Amino acid sequence: MQHYLEKISQAKTTEALESLRIELLGKKGVLTEQMKSLGSLDPEERKKVGQELNIQKQALENALDSKKQTLELAEINKKLASEKLDLTLPVNQGISTGSLHPLTHVIMEISTIFAKLGFELAEGPDIEDVFHNFDALNIPAHHPARERNASFYLADSENMLRTETSTVQIRKMIKDGAPVKIFAPGRAYRYDLDATHVPMFHQCEGLLVGENITLANLFSVTTNFLKSFFEADNAPVRVRQHFFPFTEPSFEIDVRYKEENGVWKIGKDGNKWTEIYCCGMVHPNVLKNCGIDPEKYQGFAFGIGIERLIMAKYGISDMRKLFEGDIRFLKHYGFPANETPNHAEGLS
Ligand code: DAH
Repeated sequence: MQHYLEKISQAKTTEALESLRIELLGKKGVLTEQMKSLGSLDPEERKKVGQELNIQKQALENALDSKKQTLELAEINKKLASEKLDLTLPVNQGISTGSLHPLTHVIMEISTIFAKLGFELAEGPDIEDVFHNFDALNIPAHHPARERNASFYLADSENMLRTETSTVQIRKMIKDGAPVKIFAPGRAYRYDLDATHVPMFHQCEGLLVGENITLANLFSVTTNFLKSFFEADNAPVRVRQHFFPFTEPSFEIDVRYKEENGVWKIGKDGNKWTEIYCCGMVHPNVLKNCGIDPEKYQGFAFGIGIERLIMAKYGISDMRKLFEGDIRFLKHYGFPANETPNHAEGLS
């Protein structure tokens, strides 16, 4: 015992002290073994030896603790004396920067393209009222989108999470009248969840209203956008007639592509069509609802699903992955924060 107390007081480092602690009090330590052997003694003896061992144990623990404090203090002082802080080093030394989420990056890509095409960025609130979300967009009272199980209403039933970014058209036209040329990326909400639908998703709305605007303008903007976004020489499109309450006529636009290693290659050597764009000429009722004379002004509008664009361009097959926040996914699909997308070169 005395012998161990001496060893403790002579320990030179915290590591040496730790080995001593294990040697004495570890699972197979000298003292631990002695404690274990108490069981084989008769009761009288056990009580006596047990008390002694406890006293020894307490003394050893105290010695170990106080020596540990002394050694730690000495080690810190030594470090402080030998290590100098270099205040001239750049502050962010060793701090790793994060990356841009694919959604952020693609919204930046889209914004660059539309800005170069002369569209102005517009925004609107995520919480909308029924007027901006449905009435002004010419969506009739019996339309299924108005159902409670399709949309997220707030408790007051008058306000809701917007189901589409088309609401921004309404806000912009009511505020500024015609002419208008905007794009509006943002969130939309619907009661949906599977591999290609999530309850909160992103769209980019576009609106151009002016005099003598025709379908030719719409198709020119569309092909320019697709070529530029997919960095393709050409973007063959197929136009299918469709129905939207806020446009007349309305279309869905498909683009020609082929899949290579899960990633889309847009171009005329594609072998499949996929829907990528919804659009049409703004319905006269919508213009009227916003105080614009449909005899004087016409326009087109479009809506693009942003997650869909990301999945196509970067080869992501499950939309839910975009929202899980899995760091491995973000490391793989994220973009360097200082990389400004510039796909708008060569727009015609
Ligand atoms: N708002 C439509 C939707 O979410 C997409 C859309 C279709 C937007 C046609 C438009 C448009 O501006 O003209 O399904």
